[in-house]
Amino acid sequence: MLWEGDVLLQVGTRALAILSALTEAPGRLVAKRELLERAWPDGRVDDANLKVQISALRKALRGCEGLIRAESSLGYRFLGEAVPGDPYPDAERRCSLVPQLLTEPIGRDGVVADIVGLLKESRLVTVLGPGGIGKTTVALAIAHRLAHTFADESCFVDLSRIARDDQISEAVARALGSPVGEAPPALEQIQAALQARRLLLVIDSCEHVADAIALLVEQVLGFSNEVWILVTSRESLRVAAEFVWHLEPLEVPPPSLMDNAANAARYSAVQLFLRAAAEVSDGFTLNDEIAPTIVEVCRRLDGIPRAIEMTASMVATRDIGELRRRLDQRLPLLEFDRQGDNLLHDSLFSILRWRCDLLPFNEQAVLRRLALFAGAFTLDAAVAVAADDVTDASVVREAVVALANKSFLIVNHQISPPEYRLFETMRAYVVSPREEGNMPRGGSI
Ligand SMILES: Nc1ncnc2c1ncn2[C@@H]1O[C@H](COP(=O)(O)OP(=O)(O)OP(=O)(O)O)[C@@H](O)[C@H]1O
Ligand SMILES: [Mg+2]
Repeated sequence: MLWEGDVLLQVGTRALAILSALTEAPGRLVAKRELLERAWPDGRVDDANLKVQISALRKALRGCEGLIRAESSLGYRFLGEAVPGDPYPDAERRCSLVPQLLTEPIGRDGVVADIVGLLKESRLVTVLGPGGIGKTTVALAIAHRLAHTFADESCFVDLSRIARDDQISEAVARALGSPVGEAPPALEQIQAALQARRLLLVIDSCEHVADAIALLVEQVLGFSNEVWILVTSRESLRVAAEFVWHLEPLEVPPPSLMDNAANAARYSAVQLFLRAAAEVSDGFTLNDEIAPTIVEVCRRLDGIPRAIEMTASMVATRDIGELRRRLDQRLPLLEFDRQGDNLLHDSLFSILRWRCDLLPFNEQAVLRRLALFAGAFTLDAAVAVAADDVTDASVVREAVVALANKSFLIVNHQISPPEYRLFETMRAYVVSPREEGNMPRGGSI
């Protein structure tokens, strides 16, 4: 964790790993390779990623950015002093912590305002969407917007590293400021911790423990009328009290618009690309010549912030035209690096594979058939394409709804009947030759 005074800063685990490598040996030149190994122990990644993390750290250390000095192309040096300390300087601090956003979210003002309004009517809101679409970012922005409403009683619990259902109550109890690992049981501690408090509880990254969280949030809402719960998840919790907010990707210019610099710069996906690219490549600017390429890259990446940030971070060392060609050829940056450093493959595709592997067989089979649709489709069209003797119409309908609830499909409820669409990255994954053998073909298609 990284603190600035009383404020917990939102810094990713990779940036923290780099900071800890640097501060272990103040003054020593730490080679890039060493830093890369510390932050990405599972495999090698592009140097540009290191630059992105260093830039995130400098942002977090605002005012003291100079403490991390780059040494030409060799590595980095920490110029400050490192004083060991208690990560929890006072016990009270274990509760009520919502990490600070280091940069303003782009293009989310409307969503944040809408969900803030929604929380007046519903005490349980789930921000739903696929990995990297910006759920945590939006949830943090909402919590900070509501800081006054809840008199700064906002608690944040990150479940991304919680592997077992039975650890959840303890994690929530700890977030509410209860002593850890002591009797009485965590559920009773939660009940006690909620007495006479009015608070917002943000529970982040629930998808892998959705059933257990569903049970817990129903109990927590029953303990007190003065607790509001904001969940982020790639799957809905499917409890009665839940209002599900399908988080849309960032906005990408529609194909009908001329992709010149002035038009492109109005869209949030492009704005994020530019901000992320400028962090790794000084002087990276938008002009009419490059605008269509950036717009197309953002489109190919579905306007998903994490994918955009990662791709933009490559422009320091790669030509953007080459990135686009890769995406056009539906080789979504696979085998991109000559040494086999499959940067996006490692992160994006392995996430997609992991998510598909968790789907029941029926849903995998239907998903594969839905990949035939290049654009939007209705439920009836899905049935027409995906049903057969083995997988009948009702199974297809159930699978489509389930896939939407698990963020595999974007749903447009503004029109009737609603339309569904596969995320382009998911579609590219499903039809990619590499994955063909891994997903059930499910009959005739
Ligand atoms: N609106 C935004 N403006 C700028 N950057 C954003 C925005 N939304 C997300 N990002 C960036 O994109 C990355 C992914 O965002 P975030 O962690 O919020 O996604 P997520 O949906 O919570 O992902 P996961 O499902 O993996 O938890 C982060 O680095 C974040 O800073
Ligand atoms: Mg998240």
